[in-house]
Amino acid sequence: MKIGVLYEVWGETESYPGAKEVDDDTTRRRRRRRPKLDREEVFDALTKLGHEPSYIELDGRDATLFALARTKVDLVFNLAESYAGDDTKDLNIPAFMDLVGVKYTGSGPHGLLLAQDKALAKKIVEFHGLKTPFSAVSHRGRLDYSHDVKFPLIVKPVSEDGSIGIDVGSVVDSVKELMERIHHLHEELDVPILIEEYIEGREIYAAILGNRPPEALPLVELDLSKLPADTPRIAGREVKFDKESEEYKLTKSALAKDLDEETAEKLQEAAKTTYRALKLRDYGRIDMRLAKDGTIYVLEANPNPWLSSQAEFAMAARGSERTYNEMIKKIVEVAAARYED
Ligand SMILES: Nc1ncnc2c1ncn2[C@@H]1O[C@H](COP(=O)(O)OP(=O)(O)OP(=O)(O)O)[C@@H](O)[C@H]1O
Ligand SMILES: [Mg+2]
Repeated sequence: MKIGVLYEVWGETESYPGAKEVDDDTTRRRRRRRPKLDREEVFDALTKLGHEPSYIELDGRDATLFALARTKVDLVFNLAESYAGDDTKDLNIPAFMDLVGVKYTGSGPHGLLLAQDKALAKKIVEFHGLKTPFSAVSHRGRLDYSHDVKFPLIVKPVSEDGSIGIDVGSVVDSVKELMERIHHLHEELDVPILIEEYIEGREIYAAILGNRPPEALPLVELDLSKLPADTPRIAGREVKFDKESEEYKLTKSALAKDLDEETAEKLQEAAKTTYRALKLRDYGRIDMRLAKDGTIYVLEANPNPWLSSQAEFAMAARGSERTYNEMIKKIVEVAAARYED
């Protein structure tokens, strides 16, 4: 197949944004060099799978959109996470491809929309009988929606990814801290804010692959237990990207160990229900918390999660005895199958 690897270059810098490194043989070899970008890894995998890949770049100019509309590829591998630097516009890209009849991998506009609005996603997930932390939404001092929430709370943007607006100061214990944090976020980002009960517990990620039916891959855990006692146990910006920080160095993702079978199954079921309920397609990652008493809380859903070989999704795929190339092959297959009906 001719496959166009689609990505956006807006504001892209020379320095690699950084990724939590995993400790296994597959990635150890790569450490010394600049890690490959996810698009390069996907491109290489497609070549090895016998496809004819090419790059399709979006840069915020109409001309690149027109080029996408005219593309002659059989399938687009959609790695675009924003449009013109605006990550809330990621959903317009598949919507545009639907309009012009370009076939693509991953979630459609519905899935991207539902998952992006965390407050809306939580209501849908609750409707399906799953638990998500109690929350309230505030924008410019107005309360849009509210449970009766209890401290400690975590304060985060309703619609951002990659821990934008989430750092060591996000967990608050008092009204004073809460007001200060809301003010801080409104100043920085001016976006609606989700005030959510903070759930102490294990941080579990469930990678889901395919559609009919979706398959839950082995669970991945981000171990936050080594963080200093005065640091909140959350995967904030420092933990995910700030390679120089203590928080980054002290935390590590790996396949989840010591989970009893029943709990692991419940987590995977919760993730599959979330994936279906939010209309995710082809591949996705559901972020959850497992509280001490065994209660599972769905935190959020990530359609088209990062496909770097170092990211949690690929780690979960390796856990299911798939190589990186086999994982990419499966995504292509399930996407292409959608257009055969
Ligand atoms: N209610 C909560 N209780 C405990 N920890 C939380 C809660 N909400 C968020 N966190 C912590 O903050 C992290 C980031 O939150 P979230 O996943 O909502 O942000 P994001 O920016 O969408 O992240 P991603 O990089 O997955 O897109 C979580 O992985 C978790 O560690
Ligand atoms: Mg997350």
